[in-house]
Amino acid sequence: MAFLPLLGLLLVLVPTLLAYSGFRGRASVVGIDLGTTFSVVAVRASQGGIGAVEVIRDPATGSPIVPSAVYYPPSPSLPPRVGAAARQLIRSEPRAVIYNAKRFIGKPAEDATVAPQAAKQAFPVVPAPPGVAFELPNGTRVSPERVGADVVKHLLSLAALHLGHDRISAAVIAVPAKFNRAQREATADAFRSAGLRVARVLEEPTAAALAYGLDKRADVSHVLVYDFGGGTLDVAVLHVSEGYVEVIGSEGDEQLGGGDFDVGVGRFLEEKYEGDVGGRGECGGEEVLYCTRADLVGVGERMKIALSEGAEVARERCVREDCGEVEMELARGEFEEAVGPLLDRAAAPIGAVLEQLGLRAADIDEVVMVGGTSRMPQVRERVREAAEKERLNTSIDPDVTVAYGCASVID
Ligand SMILES: Nc1ncnc2c1ncn2[C@@H]1O[C@H](COP(=O)(O)OP(=O)(O)O)[C@@H](O)[C@H]1O
Ligand SMILES: *[C@@H]1O[C@H](CO)[C@@H](O)[C@H](O)[C@H]1NC(C)=O
Ligand SMILES: *[C@@H]1O[C@H](CO)[C@@H](O)[C@H](O)[C@H]1NC(C)=O
Repeated sequence: MAFLPLLGLLLVLVPTLLAYSGFRGRASVVGIDLGTTFSVVAVRASQGGIGAVEVIRDPATGSPIVPSAVYYPPSPSLPPRVGAAARQLIRSEPRAVIYNAKRFIGKPAEDATVAPQAAKQAFPVVPAPPGVAFELPNGTRVSPERVGADVVKHLLSLAALHLGHDRISAAVIAVPAKFNRAQREATADAFRSAGLRVARVLEEPTAAALAYGLDKRADVSHVLVYDFGGGTLDVAVLHVSEGYVEVIGSEGDEQLGGGDFDVGVGRFLEEKYEGDVGGRGECGGEEVLYCTRADLVGVGERMKIALSEGAEVARERCVREDCGEVEMELARGEFEEAVGPLLDRAAAPIGAVLEQLGLRAADIDEVVMVGGTSRMPQVRERVREAAEKERLNTSIDPDVTVAYGCASVID
């Protein structure tokens, strides 16, 4: 009869003792895609190799894609701002908002790609052996690893909010297949300075294939991953065998991305609405799109997205120098005329990688579509043609496929 009160005592005592000794449950692992323009974090709902993958949204924007941009305030007492909050400041603080850090990470200043990319940035990129650094307006220099670490810390804060605790010990990460040893190491360093252990490094196309579980399909031996983002096109062929996935060939176009479609549409609009195109007036706040050559690129991006989401005609407004509004229209046919040559270039690397490997289109079992530009119906059509496939793997949001794949291998 005496054991009932004893049981009661134990029920109270055990959790108290556990809490006292610092035991607070198992730490979590996250999957992170640290991208050039956007980053994404995902977790496994219940770890232990079973739960569904959950891609985490930023409550501030409602979106899972977090801009890989960091604003460094001039005074050391203020913390950096990361993501959408940093991107908003690009126009007003162009030299204090650092983005595109991934294009520089792990590269020496002498690397042939560094100078042309540096020339495109609004902030100075300076040699800082063994790599480069970005110079802030107050004279401080930050490394690409530091920028990466600040983005990762922000993603961790989103994950902690979602999980309800901040015991995140490790990450599965992804790097571009073409990254060399120094670039991979520098990327892993960014995660380590954010306080994480790097549990596994996947190549991005491999992560994309894992997101669709293609490693578990006995009938799949070759997968083509078509990754078309904002600035580059990467096509990889993977060999899959007994759960083991390996990149066996890749091709791409480093000079072709979604941004080129925006420029193409912008140039088309410039001709179509010649009389309305001019300078910037003084017609309101930061967000106004003027009918200038530069702003028409932004108008072009909105039209591109509207058409790719099914509109037959895209309509957008811009503001003339005299503050009058102009409504511009772009029909689907006009769009295709404006970007035809880009679509031809978008298909080319598929033939090239097959030729490189001595494979035929029929040898490819699945095609996985990744990156924002892979949403364009015209791009999908060209890929279906070149890969001779009726259907492509598009069911996972192409912006989050890589992070999804990283989280899916957490056990
Ligand atoms: N629905 C859409 N239709 C066409 N293009 C889109 C759509 N959504 C996003 N994009 C384009 O995708 C590009 C961004 O791709 P993303 O993979 O997110 O970037 P990155 O690989 O550069 O980090 C941008 O050029 C954007 O305009
Ligand atoms: C300059 O700004 C950076 C980033 O916010 C900060 O870390 C650094 O301490 C600042 N330097 C000075 C001299 O104030
Ligand atoms: C794409 O991936 C899924 C797994 O999520 C698979 O079942 C399907 O057959 C794949 N292929 C196509 C063409 O949808």
